[in-house]
Amino acid sequence: MKKPRILITSAAGKTGYATAMQLLDKDYPVRAFVKRHDVRAQRLKDAGAEIYVGDLFSIKDMREAMAGVQRAYHCAPTAPNPLHFGSVFAVAAAENKVEHVVVLSQWLSNPNHPSFATRETWLNESIIKQFRDMTVTVNNVGWFADNYFMVLEPAAQLGILPMPLGDGETKNNAPPSNEDIAAVNVGALIDPGSHAGRTYRPTGPDLLSPNDIADTIGRVLGRKVSYQNISENIFLKAITSMRPSGYSDAVVTQLRLYAEEYRRGTFAVGGPTKAVLEVGGREPESFEATARRVIAQRPEATQTLGNRFRAVRNFLKILVTPLPDVAAIEARRGHVLLAAPNFAQSDQEWLDEHDDQFRITHKAVDAVKHTDADISPIQKPIHSLAAEA
Ligand SMILES: NC(=O)c1ccc[n+]([C@@H]2O[C@H](COP(=O)([O-])OP(=O)(O)OC[C@H]3O[C@@H](n4cnc5c(N)ncnc54)[C@H](OP(=O)(O)O)[C@@H]3O)[C@@H](O)[C@H]2O)c1
Repeated sequence: MKKPRILITSAAGKTGYATAMQLLDKDYPVRAFVKRHDVRAQRLKDAGAEIYVGDLFSIKDMREAMAGVQRAYHCAPTAPNPLHFGSVFAVAAAENKVEHVVVLSQWLSNPNHPSFATRETWLNESIIKQFRDMTVTVNNVGWFADNYFMVLEPAAQLGILPMPLGDGETKNNAPPSNEDIAAVNVGALIDPGSHAGRTYRPTGPDLLSPNDIADTIGRVLGRKVSYQNISENIFLKAITSMRPSGYSDAVVTQLRLYAEEYRRGTFAVGGPTKAVLEVGGREPESFEATARRVIAQRPEATQTLGNRFRAVRNFLKILVTPLPDVAAIEARRGHVLLAAPNFAQSDQEWLDEHDDQFRITHKAVDAVKHTDADISPIQKPIHSLAAEA
């Protein structure tokens, strides 16, 4: 039987690239939507993808990219404007009678969250589920393993892992690799019969503390690395100082909210899960395995005099970067702000959905794939965890 053609949006990005490559490896015809023809696009092309260069926010481009496609991966680029992207994607997908879509959402996805990007992500999920002829699988992934490598340079050159993650000993995240997030996307894209209507929360195999993360990165680098719990203000200055190649104003305002959720332990609620094994068909890789792969590819991980000099310079740059005025950015950009938002664990709707999603995942898998012995016990009830938090 002819395999369906699959459109991958954000195909040169972290999860899109891995999803496209895994599908190509399984001989699926892939159309990769990229912003420009660069080395990543060339690698996708060399692996057999059809490359579409365009603007994810343009309905004209999305219509062209969606023509002749049966399934698609919906991956909004990191804020701003995820809802704009989602609307363009949904309209073009419906017009082209796409049969199945996998949406990359967020662990925090919730209509009452302080983060506008999280609320828009929830709206994206909800809107696309309204199209009756199109089935949807939602990937509600949490804090990526990849995020820790934002500070690979100070780890490798200065022996510190400065992040605003709270207490060093608390095991607050089971980080999934880009490849394992992609494996869940692929499982759902190639088998809508088993995964349509489901929401999954892929994680890595183990809950880890910031000290565990620093120790692992240190072990791979071959040097001692110590976690440094930095304040929100230093974090804001650090991500602002990464410009011009780093984060936009809109992203800066949202990342601080995700760090707050991290400190509150939200990414640990119900984790680790079995979604990578059950949907992606493979054991999730350890953080150490991810770190070995990433570090081997990153030039700033090599200890040289030049790299050390750059690390010291970038560190000093953080100190002299003015603290961004978040309220002023939000006002200037016209962010939609709620009068009484809720962080995830304070929101009954999030708690109910989160609880439901774990039950559905386990029930679905129970029915189609595994014997009881393979399935992890249902997670500790979310409500009791939230009450303890
Ligand atoms: N990081 C986390 O911990 C986390 C957790 C949960 C959910 N998420 C979600 O993950 C999503 C991002 O996924 P990702 O990390 O896989 O993607 P990503 O690495 O941010 O990649 C986005 C890609 O889209 C491209 N792009 C940006 N604007 C474009 C435009 N106007 N037209 C065409 N292409 C454009 C970028 O191109 P260039 O590279 O050329 O700029 C990049 O290749 C976000 O929606 C975020 O909410 C992230």
